[in-house]
Amino acid sequence: MPTLDLPAPDPARLAEAREAIAAARRVVVLTGAGMSAESGIATFRDALTGLWSRFNPEELASVEGFCAAPERVWDWYAERREGVRRAQPNAGHEALAAWARAHPGCMCVVTQNVDDLHQRAGQPDVVRLHGDILAVQWLDESACRKRPRCDPAQAAEASPGRPPRCAHCGNLARPGVVWFGEALPTDALDRAQRLADECEVMLVVGTSGAVWPAAGLAGRARRGGARVVIVNPDESEIDGQAHLVLRGTAARVLPRLLGAAVGV
Ligand code: APR
Repeated sequence: MPTLDLPAPDPARLAEAREAIAAARRVVVLTGAGMSAESGIATFRDALTGLWSRFNPEELASVEGFCAAPERVWDWYAERREGVRRAQPNAGHEALAAWARAHPGCMCVVTQNVDDLHQRAGQPDVVRLHGDILAVQWLDESACRKRPRCDPAQAAEASPGRPPRCAHCGNLARPGVVWFGEALPTDALDRAQRLADECEVMLVVGTSGAVWPAAGLAGRARRGGARVVIVNPDESEIDGQAHLVLRGTAARVLPRLLGAAVGV
């Protein structure tokens, strides 16, 4: 069924989820690519279409792929960065940010997304598990001998090559995202796991639950005693971890779910 033709979610389940959120002091929201779908940002797999369909994910999102074809990988991310810059937060991002502002200190968003739409919607507390597509970092963090170290963002400005290369140490700049085979940022993952252990409600929005360790956070929250609510128009691999599944899209369900909670 086409995603946007879905009926509104079951009113009884929506009311039950609203009650759980209204009673919670600590709400964690785990978001995936579906959160940004209604903002027009392709999911990772959808971004592998058109010109890029002839490459597999590892060729475009890994250190090996970048070293084998730096310009190709740099250009794929440049195209996706432009898409992020053109996109706007959708009603789902706005509803989450409004709830968080109305309940200071009660909500944290843990996102797998590398766009900045939660932040642009004014979400106060966001944990990025997979990095930031608008950021750059050095390919070899240990190569720069200068002190203070050269700034990759300045290098990207100063020598806008494809990819930019540091004029001092010859280091290559790369996108600031987590690639296949790379570990997630330790501090982000540690905080996300702690938040999952301590929350009363985990709201899971727009993720297939296919990629670990992010996919393990819903089960971790449930084992910690939290109510787990999933918002997704389709079945996900972690539906079994949920107490409640709301079949619908982020931009249509979240305002209904959170709007009443902020008393608007
Ligand atoms: N609202 C809510 N959910 C949606 C919407 C929408 N409008 N549209 C699609 N979805 C759901 C899909 O049904 C799917 O379950 O969003 C999910 C997107 O799944 P993926 O494309 O697998 O994205 P994600 O779960 O975030 O992938 C995790 O894997 O691709 C890598 O690093 C990348 O962060 C990404 C990670």
